[in-house]
Amino acid sequence: MAGRIPTLADLGDVSGKRVLVRTDFNVPMENGEITDDFRIRAALPTINWLTERGAQVVTASHLGRPKGQPNPKYSMDAVRARLAELAPGVELLENLRFDAGEEGNDPAFVAKLIEGIDMYVDDAFGACHRAHASIVGPPQTLPSAVGLLLQKEVEVLLGLREHPKHPFVAVLGGSKISDKLGVVEALLNTVDALVIGGAMCFTFLAAQGYPIGASLWEPDQVDTCKRLLEQSKASGKTIYLPEDLTGVDANGEYATFGIRLPEGAKGFDIGPGTAAAFSDVIMDARTVFWNGPMGMFEDPRFEAGTRTVAQAMADTKAFTVVGGGDSAAALAQFGLDDDVDHVSTGGGASLELLELGDLPGLEALRHAPNAPISPNDPISPNGRELS
Ligand code: 3PG
Repeated sequence: MAGRIPTLADLGDVSGKRVLVRTDFNVPMENGEITDDFRIRAALPTINWLTERGAQVVTASHLGRPKGQPNPKYSMDAVRARLAELAPGVELLENLRFDAGEEGNDPAFVAKLIEGIDMYVDDAFGACHRAHASIVGPPQTLPSAVGLLLQKEVEVLLGLREHPKHPFVAVLGGSKISDKLGVVEALLNTVDALVIGGAMCFTFLAAQGYPIGASLWEPDQVDTCKRLLEQSKASGKTIYLPEDLTGVDANGEYATFGIRLPEGAKGFDIGPGTAAAFSDVIMDARTVFWNGPMGMFEDPRFEAGTRTVAQAMADTKAFTVVGGGDSAAALAQFGLDDDVDHVSTGGGASLELLELGDLPGLEALRHAPNAPISPNDPISPNGRELS
């Protein structure tokens, strides 16, 4: 029988206990060096909560996608060294994905993982949409709890889903509409406006009959985009699309365009007029969720659109939430990460939570042996039905 999600307080006395904390230390690396330790720092409140109460903390995470094989490229050494600076004395196991049992959710791997462990805490929001062994296995038998980071992420994102202040605007970018279809459909139920940039805008522009040159697009998603445009019109929602673009012409030279791209041209960023219009929409909103860059911001020639949106996120009085991954990296690149209300550590997980309202990792915690039986889930704003 399922209960509500147990919190750290539901673990009882943790003093002297070995507590396995599943973290998402899947940090960006370059030449063996960590380029952004945000996900490590984000786990510290939970680690400190436990160590201050006398627990012996053992952390575990995946790093990259080594596909079930040990691979020095994905070793946790650099993460372990950083963790030792931030939280001395805290253990970190080797990359969970060096064993195929992690992604295969193999009970034998779960048994190995929890050997000598007394309690389990899930603080790996970024991996909670994966029904992997370290996420769904330990709560089947161990007293378990949601970590402080995971709890905050769920409160913020379910808050957007369930009771956002209006106008609620979602700004979506990135390359593929097919990756975000589910969340776009779900968001159309709650948002007042959708703002679409990034390469995914070209499939929408093609659906509206505009020539898109040689830009990246998904021909098999044109009908879906047409349907979404019609659906939004029928429900009184606005979908904002670019009116101008920057990119390269057929000779590969930097160029600015109106909404119609010439043959052979490629769009790599929203244009200045569009960036200003998107910024106005963000400034007038009361809640904004942003996921996905507006263009190829890693190239200084094509960062302006993403920078303008990031600046508007920092300047608006709206409650602002940034989904992890590339948009969080863009915010950090522009030095604006402290100027939004919440930067999520999860990319795929934040989209899946917005779309479905639940994640396999949360469901597993509701079934933990210590899950309190109570009608309301304290980390769900509306106290959802228990299964
Ligand atoms: C992420 O980076 O989004 C999480 O760590 C999950 O990683 P995955 O997509 O490889 O499962």
